[in-house]
Amino acid sequence: MKYLRDIDFSGKSVLLRLDLNTPIDSGKVSDNERIVRSLKTIEFLADQSKRLIIISHLGRPQENNEIQPEYSLKPVAEELSKLIAKKVDLAESLSDIDETNSLTLLENVRFLEGEKSNNDKLAKTLSSLADVVVFDAFATSHRAHASTSGIISHSKEACAGYLIEEELYSLNKAFSDPKRPFVAVIGGSKVSTKLGLLDSLASKVDLLLLGGGIANTCLLSQGKSIGNSLAEESMLHEAKRLSENKKVIIPDKFMVLTENGMVIEKTTDEIEDTDQIFDVSENFFRENDDLFKEAKTIIWNGPIGMIEDDRFSKGTVRLAKIISSSNAFSVIGGGDTIAGAKKAKVLDKVGYVSTAGGAFLEFLEGKQLPAIACLENK
Ligand code: 3PG
Repeated sequence: MKYLRDIDFSGKSVLLRLDLNTPIDSGKVSDNERIVRSLKTIEFLADQSKRLIIISHLGRPQENNEIQPEYSLKPVAEELSKLIAKKVDLAESLSDIDETNSLTLLENVRFLEGEKSNNDKLAKTLSSLADVVVFDAFATSHRAHASTSGIISHSKEACAGYLIEEELYSLNKAFSDPKRPFVAVIGGSKVSTKLGLLDSLASKVDLLLLGGGIANTCLLSQGKSIGNSLAEESMLHEAKRLSENKKVIIPDKFMVLTENGMVIEKTTDEIEDTDQIFDVSENFFRENDDLFKEAKTIIWNGPIGMIEDDRFSKGTVRLAKIISSSNAFSVIGGGDTIAGAKKAKVLDKVGYVSTAGGAFLEFLEGKQLPAIACLENK
């Protein structure tokens, strides 16, 4: 795969695909992590190339060639301008790109018809905007879209940016050749998207701790009561197979919300039909503090409780503190997981924080990431 150092950018125009899909609140970027992590590549290319056009998506708008204000990259352009202390021109459409501007951000690429279906004509049009395509959107590398794999395939010259280099190095370090014991923690509410990955993950790690909806689904598959808690009933078969794996640990103490609004700790045998499991009890970690003691590598994706509610964030905060204070090389990924580590005030103590959520999970599953594969074949 080619990296930035392998190309001479002088006198060349560059199309840079980033993942600037950041949370927006009241017209402002509320978490600029992905923008900040893209700065090294942006600054390098702004300095080395003749002209830089940045493209990104934001959210999941309608693909109808029209600007939908709630998905506009305008707040991102403003935040980026602030961070690099330079004016960033936001082009509303392809025809609005001003060739005399040295730095342009194109409006949300998912407004363009054909983006998600990787339309050949759109991919060609985008890649023809510049001499070189630089792909640095690791968090979108699992999507085979026109602005990801499409532009790389059609480019005259393409390479990966600094963020991709850093992500692949750290994820490979943790995952391809892990120091053992290797522990994984998978939580979160998106049960169906994660259950498929867990079988393959269980075969690679020494211990797999589950939380959130996945743990509930496993408990249900063992015939335990989980009351009104989140679970995926259509996946009980897979969950049963998983929970029978000796490496898999399912917590046995939770914080539940009772029918009359009380928050109390219950063991798995005490859950009533009207209870809702919303967190793993901190006592579970106190009683099992040896789980992470020997670990040399830890990966974590997905909160194990409802972190947006302070009554149910303690388990995730405790987990984040245990992971960050262990001697293991730790890698975490996913927006909610990062929010959990931030809530515990330990984000800077984690070994590596991946900017990716879905792509992080597909990487762990051993799936080929289409945009990375295109870069490798270029
Ligand atoms: C993400 O936030 O995981 C990426 O930006 C990809 O977004 P998507 O799931 O909408 O493709």
